[in-house]
Amino acid sequence: MKKIALLLLSTLITLWGVAQTSETRMNSFIDGLMKQMTLEEKLGQLNLITPGSGIPTGSVVSRDVEKKLREGKVGGMFGVIGYENIRKAQDIVMKESRLKIPLFFGSDVIHGYKTTFPIPLAMSCSWDTALIRRSAMMAANEASADGLNWTFSPMVDVARDPRWGRVAEGSGEDPFLGSQIATAMVKGYQGNSLAANNTLMACVKHFALYGAPEGGRDYNSVDMSRNRMYNEYLPPYKAAVDAGVASVMSSFNDIDGVPATGNRWLLTDLLRKQWRFNGFVVSDYTSLSEMINHGSGNLQEVSAQALNAGLDMDMVAEGLLNTLSQSLKEKKVTLAQIDAACRNILVAKYKLGLFDQPYKTMDAARAKATILSAENRAFAREVATQSFVLLKNNQQALPLAAKGSLALIGPLASDKSNMLGTWAVSGDPQLSIPVLEGMKQVAGTGVTIQYAKGANITDDPALAARANVFGMRAEIDARTPEVMLEEALQLARASDKVVVVVGEASEMSGEAASRADITLPASQQKLLKALYATGKPVVVVNMSGRPLVLTGLTEGAAAILQVWHPGIEAGYAIADVLFGKVNPSGKLTMSFPVAVGQIPVYYSQKNTGRPQSPDNKFSSKYLDIPNEPLFPFGYGLTYSTIEYGKPVLSGTTLTNKDSLTVKIRVTNAGKYDAREVVQCYVQDKVRSITPPAKELKAFQKVSLKAGETKEVVFTITERMLAFWNANLNYVSEPGEFNVMVGGNSRDVQAVGFTLKN
Ligand code: BGC
Repeated sequence: MKKIALLLLSTLITLWGVAQTSETRMNSFIDGLMKQMTLEEKLGQLNLITPGSGIPTGSVVSRDVEKKLREGKVGGMFGVIGYENIRKAQDIVMKESRLKIPLFFGSDVIHGYKTTFPIPLAMSCSWDTALIRRSAMMAANEASADGLNWTFSPMVDVARDPRWGRVAEGSGEDPFLGSQIATAMVKGYQGNSLAANNTLMACVKHFALYGAPEGGRDYNSVDMSRNRMYNEYLPPYKAAVDAGVASVMSSFNDIDGVPATGNRWLLTDLLRKQWRFNGFVVSDYTSLSEMINHGSGNLQEVSAQALNAGLDMDMVAEGLLNTLSQSLKEKKVTLAQIDAACRNILVAKYKLGLFDQPYKTMDAARAKATILSAENRAFAREVATQSFVLLKNNQQALPLAAKGSLALIGPLASDKSNMLGTWAVSGDPQLSIPVLEGMKQVAGTGVTIQYAKGANITDDPALAARANVFGMRAEIDARTPEVMLEEALQLARASDKVVVVVGEASEMSGEAASRADITLPASQQKLLKALYATGKPVVVVNMSGRPLVLTGLTEGAAAILQVWHPGIEAGYAIADVLFGKVNPSGKLTMSFPVAVGQIPVYYSQKNTGRPQSPDNKFSSKYLDIPNEPLFPFGYGLTYSTIEYGKPVLSGTTLTNKDSLTVKIRVTNAGKYDAREVVQCYVQDKVRSITPPAKELKAFQKVSLKAGETKEVVFTITERMLAFWNANLNYVSEPGEFNVMVGGNSRDVQAVGFTLKN
């Protein structure tokens, strides 16, 4: 025993020694390099530029960019796609610049590279962190082969306002689930080593609180108590830092009246001192120069403020490059600060292995073999099926039998241009599978499938134009709406069943795509109501980048499948689920509101001093709508019936020295094999800061064969009950708690216990 302990100790000492020597080697290499650098060259490392678009053109080496590269005025580039273009840019630096400091190359690899996965909000609904981690690994593998070494992902902004279009890019409303996913993604991208040739440096964004803009309007102000920040909004960023994320992107919004990019409390006190982050901070796109509009000063002033705050790299604004030498002369910044920022960038390059191998990931053969491989596409199909959420299924309307006649209707039923969803800059929509094609392939010959468009995504040319900024996404048909509707109704009447694919164009969500009215556009509401009126069973497939207000449209539907924007294999994945080849198992990670006026609506809302009560006028409620969302967080059906037993606690008291278990039997009482996300919430009944009604603390996704019962066990520890108190200390407080288990945040069963000192 003693021998083993000694052996272990000596191994640990050796490992520590190795780490020390490689750290020392890195530091002395960087010291040596920095001694040779001029001030301009140091400032050059802080400069991140893009040739102007995500589309590779000759502009990669356009005069201006070329000159800057040659003069050592660029630290990294983004928006240069394809290893040939990346190589050209790296060549200039490596052959023509004085110190030949390699560039790194970033991109928005948000949900897959060329093999596009479902949008992140969709993937979060799988609650399958292993699957999500694998998707990030695969994205890194493809993107690195194509010359990239940095992704502006994961986006971990907790978001509770579906008017904000960027909810599509995150993991929904919950900090705990969001943290698990943040960890999975960072680990997936970065793997075990940034120096490997198939990993990417990750960048957690948008730090911080970008997901809480006033009114859901993008880029808008954020104002939030420290209490809410620490307990509800910061945990996913912290999780990414703990997982070793190499870079952090500062957000567009202000926090406590100071823009994030120039916020010293945020970037230094919290991020570096409290969280011990040791990578580098990059601004969001021109968020540095946007501080001028925020009212923080001119470019020189805001650049000095940002450097003082802890910003290391400036995306596009060129404020650090062009103004810091003047600020240095005026003693507004110090050389030590510039050196520190420069060092942070050089360390990242060193860890990426770029000083040894500046072209390391530009691998034509690997790019050819990996990108869009059959294996990757098959995985994208699997991920998509796992991200769908079955919201309704009356009398087993789904799965569809592979016989009879089917009317496939809707503006998104035979569409390629919207399947990838927002932020798929490297994906090619033309490679995606439309629903019609997928359905025909998967259904086989026993079913007749006929298609009619039925309606435009929107009849409003102004809205269509805004959705079409990156190409035709919402095309207005040359035929009149009446003619299209009539064609669809005739087809519906002549068919046994109707599947209607409705929703949003991909660019109706995402960046700068906030909507004040998040219902389906009028054209599609009209289509749905007319189809319901035919009396045929209507299966609604809803494709959107955010929770929509579906009030008034659910009653008439036989079934509703929420598929978000499913990615490159959309059509196959949807067909797999509709025909029952895959049993849906997704659960919502954002509540679906009853009405826009309810927003923000989220499961962990506090009780208030006047909890709603039907008999009490003076209680916290609306006169015209319920407080509860239409579909709550955690909700989602399967084709089977999942039954929960009673939760059983192993004891009634807990201390910080032991733990409790809660056990529950979960049965698949239906005839299809299923997967179920069993969720465990905790309610703190009394505490010094008013507690949320419940908080997710654990979950397990279990596979259950038809007829099978499994016992699911959660362990409750004192640490799981801790929160940030009024003094921002992380504590638990003794007293009464409830642990609540169930298949969604609403339908839970509670058992009580006491936390003792
Ligand atoms: C977005 C970021 C993105 C960056 C670079 C910005 O407008 O907010 O999420 O990474 O552009 O493309």
